[in-house]
Formats: sequence, structure tokens, C-alpha cells
Amino acid sequence: MAELAIIGGTGLTSLKNLQIERREVMHTPYGEPSGPLVHGLLCGKQVVFLPRHGTAHTIPPHEVNYRANLWALQHIGITKVIAVAAVGGVTSAMKPTALVIPDQIIDYTWSRQHTFFQGDLSHVTHIDFTEPYCADLREVLIAAGKAAGIDVINGATYGATQGPRLETAAEITRMERDGCDIVGMTGMPEAALARELELCYAACAVCANWGAGRGEGEISMDEIERNLKVGMDRVRGLLEQVIPMID
Ligand code: HPA
Repeated sequence: MAELAIIGGTGLTSLKNLQIERREVMHTPYGEPSGPLVHGLLCGKQVVFLPRHGTAHTIPPHEVNYRANLWALQHIGITKVIAVAAVGGVTSAMKPTALVIPDQIIDYTWSRQHTFFQGDLSHVTHIDFTEPYCADLREVLIAAGKAAGIDVINGATYGATQGPRLETAAEITRMERDGCDIVGMTGMPEAALARELELCYAACAVCANWGAGRGEGEISMDEIERNLKVGMDRVRGLLEQVIPMID
């Protein structure tokens, strides 16, 4: 049975080398996940793949049913989740195509369904979120990067914005002042929901562009797609290295 799931982001709607065995359609108390859970073998290991934005990349970041996605994964016995996500670079090291394993989060999202702990509760629960990502899984991702000779930046603060629009230059400046290194639209509430379900969750972010006002001129979808193609090929290499290292 698979214990590891990979949530794919923009630019990673499928895993080329995944030998697909079956697709599982799930219905959850929170609604429908982004698509069927794709079960298969990657590097000889059982894994589950779920494209966050849907199989045809039609679900925008603010409409992803994060609760259904994570609940479905946990329900089938997944204990570890690697979340792949496209981001913009805020600080100078976060250049387009760079791979980053963030270690902190600042949440700027609003109005999303962000918790399982609501409604008819027997007691009020506050999860600890001091370290929002699973330290063990982060370490394996970083070690895998070293072993595969793939440059991976160890540590960054992920600023999660509401989207779907990109930020203004002033917003990026404010985010840098706040301590953000990268900016993306899907990091939250995904990470917090994973913690509520006690899943070991880490992210691999791919810099698709400079954040607004940090590069030259406007941010184009062409530029994002070009950089993601390069970055996601490196993510595939990293995943193939990482899978055998996970017990
Ligand atoms: N901002 C927010 N999310 C993103 C960006 C960005 O610049 N690039 C890719 N995802």
C-alpha cells in the first residue's frame, strides 16, 4: 500500500515515469478532490499522485478543495506528502528555475476553507505550527538533491497569497520586509490541513518567475511556462532520487 503521495502543481500535472496501476475516484465529507487519485509505481515504489489543479489544470488556486485532497489522501493510508508548487522569487537567490525546500510560511490567504476543526466539535483544538513542514521529509529532499547533483535551496519563507492575480510590486516589497523569500498561491491552507491530519508534509517549490517588480517588465505566462518546464524536469529527477530514500 502506498504511504507516499505527491501533489503536483502548475507544470506537473502528470509524472512521466509513473507506471499507473489505477485511478481512484474519491468522495469525501468535504466534497470532491481535484481529481482521481492516481496509484502507481515510481522507481519501484508504490506512490499516489494527485494534480492539485485537476487533470486538465482547470482549478485555480483559490478554488482548490484542499480539505478534500488531504482528507482523501489520509483516508487511503498516506502518511507522507511531497507537495510540488510553482512560486515567484522574492529574494535574490530565488531565481527562475531554482528549486527550493521552504521551511517557513506566512499566510496572506483569506476566505479559504482552512481547517477541519470547525462545526460540531467536542473540544477546541489548536495545532502546533511552529515548524510548518515535516523536518524529516525536508531533510530527505535536501539529501536527495545532493545525491543527484541537483541544486536545491535549503530553507525559505513561503508567502502564500490569495491569487489568482499576481501581486503588485509594492506587495512583493512588503512581503520581503515581512521576511518572505518566495511567493505562491497554494501553500496554504494545504500545509496546515496536512498538519491537522498529522501527515508528514514538505514542499518542493520551483521558481517560475521573479516576483512582481523584481524582474524586467511584466510577468508573462510564456516566461512562467518556459521556466517551469526546466524546473519541473529537475523536480522529476529529484523525485526519482528521493523515492528510494524514503522508508
Ligand atoms: N506569485 C504568486 N504565485 C506564483 C507566482 C508569483 O509570482 N509565480 C508562480 N506562482
